[in-house]
Amino acid sequence: MTDCECGCSYVAGLPDDEAAHELLHREYSCGPELADVKQLNPFTSVADYPVVVVDRAVSRDKRRRMAAVAYVAQRSTPAFPAGYDGSISPGDEKMFIVIDGIRAVAVALTALDDVYWRFAWEDDGTARLVDRAAVTHERPKIGRIWVAKRYRRKRIASRLAQAVCDHFHSGLADIGWELPMTMEGTNLLRQLVPGQWWGCGDLDAVRTLDINFEVQQRAFSKGRSWSCEVGNLRQAITIC
Ligand SMILES: CC(C)(COP(=O)(O)OP(=O)(O)OC[C@H]1O[C@@H](n2cnc3c(N)ncnc32)[C@H](O)[C@@H]1OP(=O)(O)O)[C@@H](O)C(=O)NCCC(=O)NCCS
Ligand SMILES: [Zn+2]
Repeated sequence: MTDCECGCSYVAGLPDDEAAHELLHREYSCGPELADVKQLNPFTSVADYPVVVVDRAVSRDKRRRMAAVAYVAQRSTPAFPAGYDGSISPGDEKMFIVIDGIRAVAVALTALDDVYWRFAWEDDGTARLVDRAAVTHERPKIGRIWVAKRYRRKRIASRLAQAVCDHFHSGLADIGWELPMTMEGTNLLRQLVPGQWWGCGDLDAVRTLDINFEVQQRAFSKGRSWSCEVGNLRQAITIC
């Protein structure tokens, strides 16, 4: 069995497997074809490619079909949830798609969330929590950002993130960023927001980024207990 970076496992030399992989790999390299994008009006462009937004104004069937791009993104990073399936909840999920012809060559997924953690960068490039307690404040977050392999390192993700912020009349340092993050995602964010930024996720996600999280808890809170809001759960953590 061959495991490809596109997320596909196939048996090399088996014609059916090779053909199936070729199709999936092309989606990973050049983006999936989404015929419906042609019917949407671009609201801006990045690197000369139009950007369309898929939100509650788009029909449910089209939203579900276009969610295919979120699944292509998820295939290559299976540990991270797809983040969009075409449903609309109180989180007001939206998908911002960069298009080249009818191919979706990049995507940013957003939703509203209300629990955020303030982070800052260390000199060695890792992130640390600025405040031990989460802040409750509803704001949009970027849940996932993905660029098709052939289009990477052309500043498409950077410009798309800026376009998303413009859409929300927000700044890169004011919008939230879903945790955990991939290594590339962390590098991208460090370049986009060199100062403090808002991470969004539960305690386990926060721990994946701030490797000193437990050490800091002990250092600051030995013998005491503190609590933080995570989603609707109130978690009390006693440090001993
Ligand atoms: C992360 C990702 C979205 C970046 O897209 P991109 O369009 O290539 O990013 P940009 O060209 O705007 O990169 C801006 C900066 O981010 C950093 N960066 C981006 N990709 C990087 C990588 N693979 N390795 C190290 N740094 C990287 C660099 O500092 C880069 O600036 P530079 O090219 O001048 O060095 C893309 O690599 C991707 O889709 N990866 C798979 C999905 C993923 O990991 N998403 C993040 C989820 S948290
Ligand atoms: Zn592949």
